Amino acid sequence: MKKDNKKSEKIRSEERAANMKKLVSNNMSHIKYKYLVLSGKGGVGKTTVATNLAITLTQLGFAVGLFDADIHGPNIPKMLGIEDQKFHTYEKGIIPVYAGHLLKVMSVAFLLKSKDDAVIFRGPLKHKLIGQLLSEVYWGVLDFLIVDLPPGTGDEALSVAHLIDDVDGAIIVTTPQDVALLDSRKAITFARQLKLPLIGIVENMSGFNCPYCHKPIDLFKKGGGEKAAREMKVPFLGRIPIEPEIVIRGDSGVPLTTSNECPEITQAFEEICTKWNDLLEEKEILNKQSVKLGKCQNE
Ligand SMILES: Nc1ncnc2c1ncn2[C@@H]1O[C@H](COP(=O)(O)OP(=O)(O)O)[C@@H](O)[C@H]1O
Ligand SMILES: [Mg+2]
Repeated sequence: MKKDNKKSEKIRSEERAANMKKLVSNNMSHIKYKYLVLSGKGGVGKTTVATNLAITLTQLGFAVGLFDADIHGPNIPKMLGIEDQKFHTYEKGIIPVYAGHLLKVMSVAFLLKSKDDAVIFRGPLKHKLIGQLLSEVYWGVLDFLIVDLPPGTGDEALSVAHLIDDVDGAIIVTTPQDVALLDSRKAITFARQLKLPLIGIVENMSGFNCPYCHKPIDLFKKGGGEKAAREMKVPFLGRIPIEPEIVIRGDSGVPLTTSNECPEITQAFEEICTKWNDLLEEKEILNKQSVKLGKCQNE
């Protein structure tokens, strides 16, 4: 009897999971590409990279959404200067908040009464919350949805990867020093185990140009991300140097890529987007070829 109850509970929970996946998939049917930004370690610049990549993509003419999946430390609204916004619903679901005219954003931070409130949730509740947001936020038609994950390979990363059936890829952010690289290798293994296509590695905080002598100083070393990419057979997307203005602009809610004030940084993000788009195009050409090949074989 007990065994039967356990079995039917298992079936019910599998049905619930399948239903949720279906809801998420229906809700995201107008989004062309979905990407996760992850790292093995906190503080390496994931949110900074996700936010600036999203802005750069809008500047390149794409329709972009940014989903902050960091339940305990949702920083995206602060970095985009929209932390006072609250979330609203209408008949089609939850309405994302606009950052500027083009970028649509959703974050748990919009649900909190005060900036100092903390979400104290364990795994299953976090999964439920992420599921609800992924299935109910009405993004409309998007070229890219970028999901910013908390550090590591824990609950949130697993939930997002399980709930979105057709993730187009993962971008790993790392800093160049050995301790960060060790963790980013774990993030690569995580992505491989979950069969997430690896788009590439971004090496953030890579070198620093001294504002006085203009000589480069490799505060956290340099080139480690590129070496890890080579060793783990993952594309290297590019590097972003340490730039104190990134911190100032992130704290003031106006990311550096919103203007061309710091051309070196704007260019670094543009180059990463170009490399990413080139990889996408290559993949699409390969996909088309394999569809054609498939057709030939069937005919
Ligand atoms: N290239 C960079 N140069 C200088 N500061 C940076 C750079 N990238 C990120 N930061 C700063 O480092 C801190 C952590 O970045 P954040 O994006 O929140 O990391 P994560 O999301 O990985 O925890 C922030 O204060 C951010 O402004
Ligand atoms: Mg973050």
